[in-house]
Amino acid sequence: MDGNSTVRVGVLGYGNVGAAVVALIGENGDTIAARTGLRLEVARVAVRDLSKARTGFSGFTDDAASVVTDPDVDLVVEVIGGIDPAKSLVLAALEAGKPVVTANKELMAAYGAELFDAAAKAGVDLLFEAAVAGAIPLIRPLRESLAGDRITRVLGIVNGTTNFILTRMTESGQTFAEALAEAQSLGYAERDPTADVEGHDAAAKASIIASLAFGVRVVASDVYREGITGVSADDIRMAGRLGYVVKLLAVIDAVNGEVAVRVHPTMVPAAHPLASVREAFNAVFVEGAAAGELMFYGRGAGGRPTASAALGDVIDAAANLRQGTSAGVPGLASARIRPMDEVRSQYYLSLDVADLPGVLEQVAAAFARHLVSIVQVLQVGMGQEARLVLVTHTAYERDMQATVAELRDLDHVDRVGTLLRVIGGEQ
Ligand SMILES: NC(=O)c1ccc[n+]([C@@H]2O[C@H](COP(=O)([O-])OP(=O)(O)OC[C@H]3O[C@@H](n4cnc5c(N)ncnc54)[C@H](OP(=O)(O)O)[C@@H]3O)[C@@H](O)[C@H]2O)c1
Repeated sequence: MDGNSTVRVGVLGYGNVGAAVVALIGENGDTIAARTGLRLEVARVAVRDLSKARTGFSGFTDDAASVVTDPDVDLVVEVIGGIDPAKSLVLAALEAGKPVVTANKELMAAYGAELFDAAAKAGVDLLFEAAVAGAIPLIRPLRESLAGDRITRVLGIVNGTTNFILTRMTESGQTFAEALAEAQSLGYAERDPTADVEGHDAAAKASIIASLAFGVRVVASDVYREGITGVSADDIRMAGRLGYVVKLLAVIDAVNGEVAVRVHPTMVPAAHPLASVREAFNAVFVEGAAAGELMFYGRGAGGRPTASAALGDVIDAAANLRQGTSAGVPGLASARIRPMDEVRSQYYLSLDVADLPGVLEQVAAAFARHLVSIVQVLQVGMGQEARLVLVTHTAYERDMQATVAELRDLDHVDRVGTLLRVIGGEQ
């Protein structure tokens, strides 16, 4: 192996992912060299706090910018996270003609287009397989394997924390608070779980997937977002009785040249492949006009799974660097992002009503006035009250919201429960 086959890697960050990237290069370096002819060498590693005890590398620096500009670093792996200083470090690396591999969904979701421009200008790779769905190969299939097809819809369980919580609520009857506490004790949820349970993390990933699947510019703030904090154990039980499982889904649709991207708790038919994705696993279900239905499944987080995806990118970028080429950046056109009001879906709604003659007719009339037709009704007696659980045919979001507003004002409706969208078997 000649000197040209050695690629020196600078790693920015040595946390869950960074330490695992360095460890995997050590463990698999010989195999990688035998398979690809490339010898990866970890040249420099930057951290924030030099006083922390660490193993697996020696000679850390707290000057990340110096790693990026170091002539002994050929390729940069950014696994610090967040926007600042990650963004300026990535830009500096690209401007210095060094390929960058990142796992940073927040950065890619907010500044992907600007970073792609910088990579294109420098003629080097900017790869980010690890930023979406951890270990699961998804970016490459969307960019390469499906490049000749027309993708019509992508449905994704892209946040392991919320999938774990919803699995516990479904299978053990836990409340949201109990399931969250268990997720935190197992290290699946942060002490401040907002980014996960309010859907921000899933929205960032949904915007990246939408950009790649449809070749349009979508940022995280374009994504309609609802988290899972409003989902009750009762909703989950009722969903089960109707034949559905509740999941936090990213739903990405191409509709007449427009793109609709949303993240919300969703009722998925029990027979749909996404319904069986349990615990902290992720899965992305892609519908291609020619390919039909595909599902990508695996671990969406964790140091080693995420490092596995990052290392695949490192090898690609290193090979391209040595061949003096690059994978090219995705061309992103601008398209109208369809506002949520204009999105069509089926809906599930539960209502507590007075158990009196004529109330069901009043409720049905409110739906009819807004052109929302009902496909399924379940009535459960509760003494003086009854719970009505309704599933609608496909309707416009604005019409459904207007129906809900009217239901709230009806005399005999005591409680309007969570509105959930129903996906995967549209009627
Ligand atoms: N963890 C996962 O399961 C997962 C999955 C998919 C994607 N990701 C993404 O991967 C990235 C890294 O995540 P992580 O879980 O590995 O984070 P982490 O454990 O918090 O590690 C972050 C690392 O960055 C270092 N750092 C922070 N500021 C720095 C600075 N200014 N200069 C140099 N180093 C700095 C920290 O140094 P100290 O060690 O000194 O604090 C730490 O080593 C994030 O973008 C995350 O979204 C993570």
